[in-house]
Amino acid sequence: PVERTLSLIKPDGVERNLIGQVLSFFEKGGLKIVAMKMLHLTKAQAEEFYIVHKERPFYQELTEYMASGPIVAIVLEGENAIAKCREIMGATDPAEAAEGTIRKTFALSKGENTVHGSDSPESAAREIAFFFSELEICPRS
Ligand code: CMP
Repeated sequence: PVERTLSLIKPDGVERNLIGQVLSFFEKGGLKIVAMKMLHLTKAQAEEFYIVHKERPFYQELTEYMASGPIVAIVLEGENAIAKCREIMGATDPAEAAEGTIRKTFALSKGENTVHGSDSPESAAREIAFFFSELEICPRS
């Protein structure tokens, strides 16, 4: 099915000037960018975005980090976009990420791992709506 997924270029990616290279991984992987914006989340907004991880030990660290600098929010569209985006990103921990993935290439640690991608159709719908209105999305399929 043609799906949409939400990806974020995290503060370490923006800070290290990797926006263009990260977008290239997605485009070369066959995904289409249908919406994009740069923004700097407040701590409260980061907490809301990652609310499903509220009980995790790394929640404070994660949300402080995500509010520490600008990020880029991207909606990707394509056949099986949710799984494809995750494949292009590689495993959460760069030490476990496959060769040729974004995280293997750029990530610094499990936390500073350069990109986020939705993990299910339900998360994708929620995460896209968190950042974008339907008017801001340009369907390309
Ligand atoms: P992301 O896909 O953005 O969703 C949740 C994030 O939590 C994940 O990527 C990681 O960056 C982060 N995370 C997972 N495990 C840890 C950990 N042990 N320490 C810090 N951050 C973590």
